[in-house]
Amino acid sequence: ELISKGNHRHYMLKEIYEQPIVVAQTLRAYLQRMEEKVTLPIPEFDLSAIKRVTIVACGTSYYAGMVAKYWFEQFARVPVDIDVASEFRYRAPVMEDGGLMIVISQSGETADTLAALRHARSEGQTIAAVVNVPTSTMAREADLLLPTHAGPEIGVASTKAFSCQLAVLAALAANLAKAKGKLDEAEERRIVRHLAEAPASLNAALAYDESIQTMAGVIAAARDVLYLGRGTDYPLALEGALKLKEISYIHAEGYAAGEMKHGPIALIDDAVPVIVIAPSGPLFDKTVSNMQEVQARGGKVVLISDYDGIQAAGDGCIATITMPKVHPLIAPLVYAVPVQLLAYHVAVAKGTDVDQPRNLAKSVTVE
Ligand code: AGP
Repeated sequence: ELISKGNHRHYMLKEIYEQPIVVAQTLRAYLQRMEEKVTLPIPEFDLSAIKRVTIVACGTSYYAGMVAKYWFEQFARVPVDIDVASEFRYRAPVMEDGGLMIVISQSGETADTLAALRHARSEGQTIAAVVNVPTSTMAREADLLLPTHAGPEIGVASTKAFSCQLAVLAALAANLAKAKGKLDEAEERRIVRHLAEAPASLNAALAYDESIQTMAGVIAAARDVLYLGRGTDYPLALEGALKLKEISYIHAEGYAAGEMKHGPIALIDDAVPVIVIAPSGPLFDKTVSNMQEVQARGGKVVLISDYDGIQAAGDGCIATITMPKVHPLIAPLVYAVPVQLLAYHVAVAKGTDVDQPRNLAKSVTVE
C-alpha cells in the first residue's frame, strides 16, 4: 500500500499530498508536544561543544541545507559553511576541531555526499546524517542519525523528503541553540508551537491545488522561467526552478531577488514569466520592490504570497497563488507545496513522464 499510487495519477502527486502526514510523523520524533520541548532521537547526544557547522548535500537536499543555514545562524549563532557535495572535497575545506558535519540525503547513498561524509570524518568532524532511508550507508556511518520519516519516495522529483528534511533541520537548529545556551524556555515553547502548526498549514496550502492547476498553462507555454526569493525563500526559488527543469524540461533559474539587477534583469521581457515567492514578513517589502523592477520592464509576474501580501502587491501580476498566513519559521515548508504543485501541473500539461523524467535517476551513486 505504501508504494501504490492510491487515487493519484502519479507517485509525485501522491507524495506531495502525503506531506501533512509525514511531516507530522517526522516532527513526533523531534518534539515533545506535552512538555513543549525539542529533542533528538538520541536525547543525550551532546551538542554543546559544537563550534561550527558544515552542511553538504546535493540537489533538493542541498536546498534544504541552504534553508537550515539561516536557522542555525539565527537561533544557535553558530557559523555555518555549506557546499554542494561534488565541490566540497575539492576546495580543501578547513575543518577545525569541534565541527559538526551535517549530510542531508533522501537516499543516504548519493556518491558525492557519502564521499564528503568520509572526508569530514577523516578530518575529525562529528557526523550527523539527515536521511530518509534508515538502512542506508550514510545512516550507518553517522554518529548522529537524524531520520526523516517520509516513507519511501518513488517519484524522481523529491517532494515529501524535502519538507521532512526541513522539519528535522529546524528541530536540530533549536536543539543546537538550546545546547549552546541560546534558547530560553519561552522561545523553545514558541518554536515547538510553530513547528506543530506545520501539518495543518501544509493541508491548507494543498487546498489551492486547483487554482495552481488552472494557471499552470501560462508557465507551460514559456521557454524560460525565473524564480525569485529572499532569505529562506531564496533556496525555495532554487528548488522551484529545479523542480520545473526536472519534470517539465522548461529552462528555469532561481535567483536571490536582490541579485536581479546585477544581471538577470536583462532577460526580462513578456515571454519570461517571473515567479516571486514572498510571504508577508520582514523581507516582504524588499522582495516586492525587486518584483516591481521586473514589472517596470514589462515582465510578467506570478506572485506566491498570503492573502495580505497579495492584497498589498498582487495588482499588476498576471497571476497570484494564495497561501495560508504562517510564521516565517514554517514558511519554507508551506511554500514548498505551491512550487511542487506548479512544476507537477506544468509537466502534466506538457505530457512528460512525471515520475521518471528523462536522463535522471532517483539515486546518484556515481561521482
Ligand atoms: C530532486 O528532485 C532531485 N531528483 C535530486 O536533486 C536529489 O535531490 C539529489 O540527487 C540528492 O539526492 P539524495 O537526497 O538522495 O542525496
